[in-house]
Amino acid sequence: MTTQPSQAETRLGFPTDFVWGAATAAYQIEGAVAVDGRGPSIWDTFAHTPGVVLGGDTGDVAVDHYHRFGEDVALMSSLGLSAYRFSISWPRVQPGGSGAVNAKGLDFYRRLVDALLTAGIEPWPTLYHWDLPQELEDKGGWPARDTAYRFAEYAAIVHEAIGDRVAHWTTVNEPWCAAFLGYASGDHAPGRRDPESSVRAAHHLLLGHGMAAAALRGAGAQAGAAVNLYAVTPASEAPEDVDAARRIDGLQNRFFLDALLRGRYPEDVLADLEPYDLGVRDGDLEIIGGPIDMLGVNYYNRFIVTGKEGAAPAITSPFAQASPWPGSEHVGFVQVGRPVTAMGWEIDESGLTEVLTRVAADYPPVPLYVTENGAAFDDVVSAEGVEDPDRVAYLDAHLRACHAAIGQGVPLRGYFAWSLLDNFEWGWGYAKRFGIVYVDFETQARIPKTSARWYSSVIGRGGIGLSSAE
Ligand code: FCB
Repeated sequence: MTTQPSQAETRLGFPTDFVWGAATAAYQIEGAVAVDGRGPSIWDTFAHTPGVVLGGDTGDVAVDHYHRFGEDVALMSSLGLSAYRFSISWPRVQPGGSGAVNAKGLDFYRRLVDALLTAGIEPWPTLYHWDLPQELEDKGGWPARDTAYRFAEYAAIVHEAIGDRVAHWTTVNEPWCAAFLGYASGDHAPGRRDPESSVRAAHHLLLGHGMAAAALRGAGAQAGAAVNLYAVTPASEAPEDVDAARRIDGLQNRFFLDALLRGRYPEDVLADLEPYDLGVRDGDLEIIGGPIDMLGVNYYNRFIVTGKEGAAPAITSPFAQASPWPGSEHVGFVQVGRPVTAMGWEIDESGLTEVLTRVAADYPPVPLYVTENGAAFDDVVSAEGVEDPDRVAYLDAHLRACHAAIGQGVPLRGYFAWSLLDNFEWGWGYAKRFGIVYVDFETQARIPKTSARWYSSVIGRGGIGLSSAE
C-alpha cells in the first residue's frame, strides 16, 4: 500500500487564517474622474501636465474599474482571494477635501464593499493612496498642517459610511513616496521640488495617519499604515558607503518605523535633515506613535547604496531629475547584476525576509501584512493567453521569503499581490504592467495571466510547493 504524502509534506504551508489578497489603488484603476461628482485630485492635474507621465497617459479612464467593479469582484472570487486591498479616492468622497460630502462617491464604495462581502472577500480599504483633492493642494497640500486635520475628518466620514462592514483600515499608503516623490523630486504629483516642503509633508502625512487611526480605533475599527520598506546594503565597507546606507535606511525606513512604532524620529535622520523644519509640535509624536493594529509592509527590492561620486540615482520615474532624499542628494545606487524586472529593479527576495525580521526584532510587536509585492514584466498576449513565468517566479520567491520570516517568528498575517490588474503606473503611465490579470487598455478586456492561476492554486492549497514555482 502506498501512502499519499500529507499536504504538510508536499508544500510550504501558511497559517490557516493567513490573508491571501491582491491590491490596487483608486487613481490607478477607477477612471471615471469626472463622474458622479468626483472632484479633481493632484494626480489629475499632474497627469495632464505635459511631459511628466510617459506617453502623456492619464488616469482619466484607467481600467474603468468604477464601471466594471462587478466584473472585477467576480474575477477576484474566481481566483479565491480572501481579501482585496483597494484605495478610496478622497476627491470622490469629498470633492474639495473638506466640507461637503459627495453621497454618490460614498455610494460607489458602499456598492464595492457589499459586492466583496457577498463574494466572501474581505474589503481592506486604504484611505490615502496619493490622490489629494486639488483644492487642498491649492491651500498648501501636505506641507500644510491643516491637511492632516482634513484627512482625519475625511477618514471619519468614510468610516461612518462603511465602518459597519469593514474591519481593517489602512490610513496612508507609502508616505515616503507621497512626501518625497511628490514634494522633493517632483516625480509624482503635485510635482514640487522643494526639500523643506517634502519633510513637512512627511510629518503631516504621519500626523494625519495618527489622527485618523485614533478616530478609526475609537470607533471600533482596526487601523494601521502601509510603508514601503527596503533592504538597504552599503556597496562596500568604505565609510562613505556605510554612511550613505545609514542615510537612505534612515529616511526610507527608520524615519517612518520609529515614528509609527516608537513615537520618535531617529536623531541621526533629524541631523541629516538639518536645516529643514519639519513643523513638529508638542504632542505630534505621541499621536503618530499611538496604537495601531497592524503595519502594512510594501516590498519591491533592495537598495545597494554608495556615497562615492558618480553612481546613478535610484530609478524613481522616467523623468527623474531631482533627488527624493533630502539631505542625501549625493548618494548613489549600485546594481550588482541580479535579474531585473521591467522597472529595472533588481530582484532580491532575501530583502523581504530581511525587512520583515528587522521590523519584528527591532520594534515593539505588531501584526504585519505584506500589503504590496509584485513585479512588472513586458507581458504579451498569445493564443495561449498571457504566460508570465517571470512574475510567477517573482511571486513564488517572495512568498518563500514570507514563509521563511514566519518560520523565524515574524507575526506575518497576510500577503497582498501588487497588483490585481494591470493599471496606470504613475509616471510610467500604462507602459508597466504589474497585474496578475492582464488588461487590454483598448477594450478593457481582463485576461488572467498564468500568475493569477498559479496564485489561485497557492491560495487553494494554503501554501507553495516545496520546489520553486510549483
Ligand atoms: C508602489 C505603489 C503602487 C505601485 C507599486 C508598483 O510604490 O504603492 O501604487 O505603483 O509601487
